[in-house]
Amino acid sequence: MTDLRLDIHGVGKSFGGLEVLRDLDLAVRPGEFAAVIGPSGSGKSTLFNLVSGLDTPSTGDLLIDGEPADLRSGQVAYMPQKDLLFPWRTVLDNTALGLEAQGVRRREARRRAGELFGVFGLDGFQGSYPFQLSGGMRQRAALLRTVVLERPVLLLDEPFGALDSLTRTEMQLWLADMWQRYRWTVVLVTHDIREAVLLADTVHVLSPRPGTVIERIQVPLPRPRGIDDLTEPAFAAAERHVLGTLQGRLIP
Ligand SMILES: Nc1ncnc2c1ncn2[C@@H]1O[C@H](COP(=O)(O)OP(=O)(O)OP(=O)(O)O)[C@@H](O)[C@H]1O
Ligand SMILES: [Mg+2]
Repeated sequence: MTDLRLDIHGVGKSFGGLEVLRDLDLAVRPGEFAAVIGPSGSGKSTLFNLVSGLDTPSTGDLLIDGEPADLRSGQVAYMPQKDLLFPWRTVLDNTALGLEAQGVRRREARRRAGELFGVFGLDGFQGSYPFQLSGGMRQRAALLRTVVLERPVLLLDEPFGALDSLTRTEMQLWLADMWQRYRWTVVLVTHDIREAVLLADTVHVLSPRPGTVIERIQVPLPRPRGIDDLTEPAFAAAERHVLGTLQGRLIP
């Protein structure tokens, strides 16, 4: 038996003649925070579709706790890149939606989602509609909807991509706190090097398409992490390492 929560081995994926992923290896331990960073079009969202069982790989294996990912899709909570809240549903009803979709009774789903409003900084907005929230609050609501499913693996595809830089930094620090509290196994896809280094134990750098992992960078910063880490020499060194790897492959 493996002690890996997620074990991706030799995965390739093509759409017709377009090879999107090639021979990709990625392993994540239980409770680890992994970041995946790579150029646009390198197959990051495609990889998440494979892990969550929405699509199947052309080659290779994706195992979750030692079992094929397509059988274990119930283990994975996926926050897609464009996670739209339904404008006609209240925030509480939006956050209860994932539970309802998996068969939890509406009342129970609302109760479980409602319990998290405090820690997600959404208290008082249960009855509001998404347009009445700020961008950061909407992302927290989308994340709440994902997290309340209580699945062991959390896939976050650019959760803060649409936010301004100040809100984004706030959200990153908030997510660092939340992870410290709940210790989810997380895979975070991002284009933001600073975000990857601040949050992750390991940063996996992808090549341009066909995407494959070209570097794994262990972030040596202790936990818990916070705003002071942003100015640590070890932080700058890790950022430089990631950037150098990306540039080395992008500029031939
Ligand atoms: N279902 C599909 N059918 C055909 N082509 C697809 C499909 N899904 C993705 N692709 C193609 O695969 C490539 C990788 O797409 P993907 O969305 O995985 O990239 P990404 O790394 O997430 O990019 P970004 O950082 O811009 O979100 C793109 O060229 C895309 O057009
Ligand atoms: Mg994507």
